Amino acid sequence: MKTWKQIVWRQALPRIFADVVMVHLAAIASLATAALWQIYEAQAERAPQVIAELHRFYLHSFLPLSAIFPLAFLVCGFYTRSRSYPLRHKWLTLARGATAATLLFLFANFLVTRADSLPRSAMLLFIVLVNALTIGARILKSWLIPPLLKPAAISTNDRAGRPVLVVGGAGYIGSILCRQLLSQGRRVRLLDNFVYGNSAVRELFGHPGFELSVGDCRNIQNVVSAVNGAGSIIHLAAIVGDPACEQDKRAALEINYAATRMMIEVAKGYGVDRFLFASSCSVYGATEEVVDEKSAASPISLYAQTKVDSEQALLQASSDRFHPTILRLATVFGNSCRPRFDLVVNLLTAKALKERMITIYNGEQWRPFLHVMDAAAGFVRALEAPLAVVSAEIFNLGDSRMNYTLAQVAEIIGRMIPGTRVEHVENPDRRNYRVSFGKIRRELGFQCKVSIEEGIRDLKSALETRQIPDFSDPLYHNQRFLKAAGCLGSTEEIDAQVMAAFALALENQQHELATVALRSS
Ligand SMILES: NC(=O)c1ccc[n+]([C@@H]2O[C@H](COP(=O)([O-])OP(=O)(O)OC[C@H]3O[C@@H](n4cnc5c(N)ncnc54)[C@H](O)[C@@H]3O)[C@@H](O)[C@H]2O)c1
Repeated sequence: MKTWKQIVWRQALPRIFADVVMVHLAAIASLATAALWQIYEAQAERAPQVIAELHRFYLHSFLPLSAIFPLAFLVCGFYTRSRSYPLRHKWLTLARGATAATLLFLFANFLVTRADSLPRSAMLLFIVLVNALTIGARILKSWLIPPLLKPAAISTNDRAGRPVLVVGGAGYIGSILCRQLLSQGRRVRLLDNFVYGNSAVRELFGHPGFELSVGDCRNIQNVVSAVNGAGSIIHLAAIVGDPACEQDKRAALEINYAATRMMIEVAKGYGVDRFLFASSCSVYGATEEVVDEKSAASPISLYAQTKVDSEQALLQASSDRFHPTILRLATVFGNSCRPRFDLVVNLLTAKALKERMITIYNGEQWRPFLHVMDAAAGFVRALEAPLAVVSAEIFNLGDSRMNYTLAQVAEIIGRMIPGTRVEHVENPDRRNYRVSFGKIRRELGFQCKVSIEEGIRDLKSALETRQIPDFSDPLYHNQRFLKAAGCLGSTEEIDAQVMAAFALALENQQHELATVALRSS
């Protein structure tokens, strides 16, 4: 079903037509070769008879050729939107599909008209030609058309060189992402209220491609002026992590959910069509299964719940003119321009190095991990992908090779920082999820580049050289920092009212869902 849904018929129909033409060309060429061969072997006087037989065969095959091939190609996924497969995978899929379709045609032909089947000398050639023409045409197209295809693949706004608005771009992931975007020659506009200061992006202030918009994503004026003129939006701003959200539940609901809803409306108003949202694999909660994007979300914390609610708001808002993409990030690790030491790998590395002792809570629980550079690269990849591939889609962002139990993480750290003692403790945190990242690999060709060992090595060196002087500074721990800073409630009364209105919509929506569920039970 999913495969059929992925077909954009307006684009697929010309390709189907071209494939049918090529299949007919392959049939005519192989029959002509067979005719020449038979005439050569059976003397010239039989030529009219041979030609008449093959001509009759072609006429009988005309309809089956025109029907079986496009159907088989459709089923084999030739016309889905996922055209950004890694190349090898793409050519293999095409070769497999073309061969399967040809064999199916020959078999059907044999069943229906046994006496009239294609001469053997032509069969092999036909298979080879169908493969060569369908694949060859695509290779030719990818050589000849890239300069034309590229602009069609990226959104209209990006083409105009408008800035990418990174909301929450001064944080752990955002500060790296802004740099990656700038290094690609893109213009970047940052909206952030600098909860944790601006040191992570200060060195970008003079950059010609960088625009700064200091403000709160809950303030409608701040959001309107930041979105106005932007080409696309990457929304990272949030109160991040379960403990930090529990610290100030109202702010978490406002920033992580209500502000997302407001930003959707403003983005649509200004015609910003591409909207990437940072969600989290923690939406999967606690499960023994390997989960993928089709698995049910089962949030077990306020933080994860706000992510699920924002995802739903975005997907519901998607249309021909508004294309949200949800990236559910694995647990991030590694050093950044704004380091965080409330993330498991970073914290354990620092503790092992400084205290020679680490405590593992619920060591058998699984988590997927993702280096901060790869996290940022994942956003860039989604930003570059054709809209048809990412519109209204959810992607787990990470790599299937990087699922580890917490005990395995401790073991790696222990190996890299000799002399570390590991203490195992149970606590009520039940989060446990092993995640498949097959979709992002298949459809966006994304794979992580930085291993957990490399990330630990970098962190170790940053701590040893005192690039990070004190990992226990509250600035590096979201919940501790917010506790020390006090309440993060809306700054203006009007913001609070706007946020309440958007949050109320959630309550209404949940109420409606509950009513529908009650009625149908
Ligand atoms: N780090 C991870 O392991 C991880 C995992 C999954 C998902 N994510 C998601 O990725 C995104 C970025 O995470 P991070 O690790 O960089 O977090 P972070 O806490 O380092 O960064 C959050 C940024 O948002 C800004 N911000 C907060 N409230 C704001 C407001 N009201 N207005 C404007 N800006 C505001 C902060 O100043 C900060 O710069 C978040 O949405 C988070 O939920 C992170």
